Amino acid sequence: MNEQELISVARRLVAEDKGLLAMDESNGTCNKRFASAGIPQDRQTRRAYRELLVTTPHLSESISGTILYDETIRQSTKACIPFVQVIIKAGMIPGIKVDIGAKDMAAYPGEKITEGLDGLRDRLKEYFQMGARFAKWRAVITIGNGIPSLGCMDANAQALARYAALCQEAGLVPVVEPEVLMTGDHSLERSRESTKSVLHNVFSHLYSQRVMLEGMILKANMVLPGLTCPKQESVDEVADATVKCLLQVVPAAVPGIAFLSGGQSGELASARLNAMNARSKPSLPWALAFSFARAIQQPALEIWKGSEANVVAAQHALYHRAKCNQAARRGEYTAAMENAPALALA
Ligand code: 13P
Repeated sequence: MNEQELISVARRLVAEDKGLLAMDESNGTCNKRFASAGIPQDRQTRRAYRELLVTTPHLSESISGTILYDETIRQSTKACIPFVQVIIKAGMIPGIKVDIGAKDMAAYPGEKITEGLDGLRDRLKEYFQMGARFAKWRAVITIGNGIPSLGCMDANAQALARYAALCQEAGLVPVVEPEVLMTGDHSLERSRESTKSVLHNVFSHLYSQRVMLEGMILKANMVLPGLTCPKQESVDEVADATVKCLLQVVPAAVPGIAFLSGGQSGELASARLNAMNARSKPSLPWALAFSFARAIQQPALEIWKGSEANVVAAQHALYHRAKCNQAARRGEYTAAMENAPALALA
C-alpha cells in the first residue's frame, strides 16, 4: 500500500468545491429507473446513457470523480474510447462500486446485509489495473419497529471495514457508505440516533481492521425525518442536526464526508448541503461534499428518454445540477440558481 498516494487521491476527491457523480447503479436499479422514464432496459441503452454522462462537457469543473458499475467500467464510447480513459482525460478520477448488493439478513427480519467480500482481493486488483483509484461499498440500514438491531449494524460495519482494508491494500481509496434509509415515518430524532449508532459502530470496526482514516472517504446519509413523517424540519434544522451528529462520531483524520441523496429532490439535497457549509464550514475538521446519483442525474435522465436527439439537452441538465452542488459546497447556493443562465453549459 502506498499511503501517500491513497491520502492524495482521497484529498483530491473532496478538494475545493467539487464532489462525486455516483453513476454506479446496478443493472437492476438502472433498469428500474429506465423503466419509469419509458427507456428500453438493455445493455446498449445503459451504455449510451453512461456515455452521455461521462462525455458531458466541462463536467470536471464540479465533479472530482465518478463511480462506475462493473458493466460500465468495461464499456467504451461509440468511438471505442474506454469510459475510464474519457474520465481520466477530462480530469476526473474513475471509481468502482464493488459490493454485490444488500440481501435479506438471515435471522434478522426486515434488515439487510451487504455481500461481496468473497474474491474481493482479486476483483480489486483487476479494477486497479483498469484504472480505478477508488471504490465504493454500500451498507443499508433500515429504521423501523425495533430496528436497526445491533446485530445488523455490527455485521454491516464489519463488512465495510474488511472491504476498506482490502481496498487500501490494493491501492484504492475506500468510500465507506453506511446508508440509513429515509423510507418510513420516523422522526428526525430517530434518524439522528440511528445514524450516530451506525457510524460509531463503523468507525470502531475501521479501527479494528487497521484502516487508515486519512486515506478513505465517508459516504453518509443526511440526518432527515422519514419521508412520510408528518413533521418535516426546515433546511437549517436538518443541516444543524446532521453536522452535530457527524461531529460526535466522525474522526477529524477523515478528509471528507460525501453525502448520498437517498431519494431527496435535487433542489432539497443542494439546499441542505448548502446550509451545512454556509452555517458550519469554517469550524469543521473535514470537507462536506456530495456523492449524489439521483439528485444529480434525475433531470438528465428524464430529458434524455433514450433518444439521441435529447443528448445535448440532458447534458445541460446534468451540468447544471452539478454546478448547483458545487455552489452548495461553498455555501453559495440559492434557489434562484435553479434558473440562472450563469450555471448553464456554454
Ligand atoms: P443517491 O444519491 O441516489 O442516494 O445514490 C447515491 C449512491 O451511490 C447510493 O449508493
